[in-house]
Amino acid sequence: MRVAVVGLGKLGAPLAAVLASKGNDVLGVDLNPDAVRLLNDGVAPVEEPRLQELISASRDHLAATTDVAAAATAELSILLVPTPSDERGAFSNEYLLAAVEEIGRALGRRADDHVVIVGSTVMPGSCGGEIRATLERASGRVVGETVGLCYSPEFIALGNVIRDMLEPDMVLIGESDPHAGELVEALYRGVCENDPPFRRMSLVNAELTKIAVNTYVTMKISYANMLADISERLPGADVGVVTDALGLDTRIGAKYLRGAIAYGGPCFPRDNKAFATLARDLDAQAQLAEATDAINVAQTGRLARIVQSQIGDGHAVGILGLSYKPDTTVIEESPGIALARILADAGYQVRVFDPVATEAALRAMPGVAEGAASVEELLERSDVVVITTPWPEFAELPLKRVASDGNLPVVIDCWGILADERLPNSATVIRLGRALAQSSPV
Ligand SMILES: NC(=O)c1ccc[n+]([C@@H]2O[C@H](COP(=O)([O-])OP(=O)(O)OC[C@H]3O[C@@H](n4cnc5c(N)ncnc54)[C@H](O)[C@@H]3O)[C@@H](O)[C@H]2O)c1
Repeated sequence: MRVAVVGLGKLGAPLAAVLASKGNDVLGVDLNPDAVRLLNDGVAPVEEPRLQELISASRDHLAATTDVAAAATAELSILLVPTPSDERGAFSNEYLLAAVEEIGRALGRRADDHVVIVGSTVMPGSCGGEIRATLERASGRVVGETVGLCYSPEFIALGNVIRDMLEPDMVLIGESDPHAGELVEALYRGVCENDPPFRRMSLVNAELTKIAVNTYVTMKISYANMLADISERLPGADVGVVTDALGLDTRIGAKYLRGAIAYGGPCFPRDNKAFATLARDLDAQAQLAEATDAINVAQTGRLARIVQSQIGDGHAVGILGLSYKPDTTVIEESPGIALARILADAGYQVRVFDPVATEAALRAMPGVAEGAASVEELLERSDVVVITTPWPEFAELPLKRVASDGNLPVVIDCWGILADERLPNSATVIRLGRALAQSSPV
């Protein structure tokens, strides 16, 4: 099929490459000329595992332009532009509407059929409301006749975007009319390498499903963190033992049931706020979403208190991990950065290191922390070290080597990644979610 992907960011660039790799003719569209130039040069405009490989292998099927109206020349256009949170916590449709307006006007000058697919996360009611109205007004066409409108969000995790697109748990399609839904289903059936269930439904049901998935998953995380907090205060308790058993109950399931620290990143922290805003607008209740968010916000304070229980003000704290999770350079809502800010405000000297995100993090928090050039340097110059991102290399901290040269810092292992056999006898390791009194020395 001929498909335009509008927005060549963290989701759009991988989707364009995945669609092209399956033989579709893909026109990538972005207002950012750098992203367009890179894609036209066969270079990945964002970092994501396997993205460069797919782009290099699919160049015959990929082109890019800054001309948003050109999306109307395709059979389908998929919109993956930002939907930032507004001051009320709702997702703003500003960028989506700008793109729909341009594509709509271009469709008004053409005769062929077209389906607009919204992939960005939106407030439920958006597609059937202002997005549909804008598309109809700008194109002079009626949605459901020669122009279709669908909502089909991606369920991906950064760092795993390509695999999640090729092997999704399900494909969700909200549709203005069955013909539009069939086209979108055919497009995605041609992409999936597994055989996932497809769920086709109204636009608003699909919008609500998308945001419900994320609020439910984050509820599991906050639940496990609530258990971790209790376990740290309950003599003999260990949250990992408890969540491992809990997850075996098929009504609950093990995924995302892990007591550690706050969730971060560009999506999760926004979704419960948006859900609660939706509920308020409808005069409904969303206490679960509000509690999930409140528990998450409290996690960095919980972690800071554990650090403070180990050392007095003015001492040096090292933070290992600044991207919000491994395998990504993204630092939005990073728990490591949030911890650095709290500790610096409390008078600690803070030093930070991340395999890929140190520079970006230092720019995001000027004057808060110093960067360390290596893990060794951070270990040598800190009284307490906190592993906030479970990068695989942090599982192999050179603690034995540092111990032989001098004093070892106390290590707070938020994700339980340090193996006991690699630790020197003199190491003091605190594992989150275990009764604090029993956690030292190892
Ligand atoms: N990143 C994630 O993990 C993730 C996961 C699920 C859903 N989402 C949602 O997907 C959407 C896109 O997210 P992202 O992370 O890819 O965003 P991004 O910021 O990485 O990329 C968006 C791109 O859109 C371009 N753009 C903005 N306005 C445009 C316009 N009018 N026309 C053409 N291009 C335009 C920007 O230049 C940018 O390159 C958002 O709604 C987001 O909430 C993101």
